[in-house]
Amino acid sequence: MAIALERQSRIDFVLTLRRRWADALYPALRRQYDDAGGPAVADVGTAAATTHALPSYGWFAWLERGSQKQLWRAVGDAVAAEPVQRRLDGNGPSRLELDPGLELPDWYTAWDIHVQPGGVWANDAAADVYELGAKLVMLGVNDDYTFHRAFVETAIPRRAYRRIVDFGCGFGKSAWPMKRAFPEAEVIGIDLAAPCLRLATDKTNAQGLAVTYRQADCRKTGLEAGTADLVTSTMLIHEMPLPAIAETLQEAARLLAPGGLLRFLDFTCTGDAFRDLAMEEHGERNNEPFLPASMKADVPAMARQAGFRDAAWVAFDERGGGRLPTLAWPKRPEWHFPWALFEATRA
Ligand SMILES: C[S@@+](CC[C@H](N)C(=O)[O-])C[C@H]1O[C@@H](n2cnc3c(N)ncnc32)[C@H](O)[C@@H]1O
Repeated sequence: MAIALERQSRIDFVLTLRRRWADALYPALRRQYDDAGGPAVADVGTAAATTHALPSYGWFAWLERGSQKQLWRAVGDAVAAEPVQRRLDGNGPSRLELDPGLELPDWYTAWDIHVQPGGVWANDAAADVYELGAKLVMLGVNDDYTFHRAFVETAIPRRAYRRIVDFGCGFGKSAWPMKRAFPEAEVIGIDLAAPCLRLATDKTNAQGLAVTYRQADCRKTGLEAGTADLVTSTMLIHEMPLPAIAETLQEAARLLAPGGLLRFLDFTCTGDAFRDLAMEEHGERNNEPFLPASMKADVPAMARQAGFRDAAWVAFDERGGGRLPTLAWPKRPEWHFPWALFEATRA
């Protein structure tokens, strides 16, 4: 997408602001927290009381939400001024299956997720705005989708898969490396948002890849039972209320043949009260109301209940080697997401 210099400068400004927040303000707050005896604190409630009294806290909290709002304004204006032309108009190896009668859940439409006005589903431009905005949300370190490649390269065992289903596929970032890594497999991306699926189809066709994008709720995909060997998601379950996560796990169990694999890249608690507080409050300030409860949820127990075995979280380091062997993250001073990989096998 070509963006005029003036609008690009505005986007660059917001990105610089966000990097400053992540690289300078977050470590400063952490230092103040450590100096105030924070590390002795084990629970998030006490960590909150300590953190809220720190000199940099007000600025940190305000800038987190304020820069996010600026981000969508800058990106939204850029897309409105230079609307993206769909390049291939549906021509190519990928397939788009839209369901105009699909009812979107209330919890999905009730607020603007990530503070993006209208969310990712309300109009066609929403997907283009999301595509550009997501690069800034990832602080410019995922422009070439390293994160999604690392997910496929390090979190997905090499096997001969017949059918891979990616829940909450967005505009296809995981589907592309998945199809490249497993060209013999049928790859199906499921999402509620028609605009994202249109963009996904266009971008996948442009790469000459064959993926089916299906508009459906991942709790009820309409796909045949027992036909998948791998069900994945990236950045999905923290956007759902707990009953919907349970239903998603049940649907994954229904789709998978025995021995089939589940791999969800998301968040769980780190045990570092400061970091877990920062994530809880990130959920509040970023309009992700289910994030705190999903991080605390016993997802392994929910998965066992749904029919999985060997269910566990391990850490995922998107700035290093991807999947890590245990639930322990490398220490880094700057703000970054505590990504975690949820793994389970269909019993
Ligand atoms: C944060 S985005 C992540 C997109 C993509 N997986 C990625 O890594 O970039 C979450 C996606 O999940 C979709 N989503 C949320 N709830 C869903 C549901 N119940 N069924 C299918 N898709 C859902 C949203 O529309 C959105 O595209």
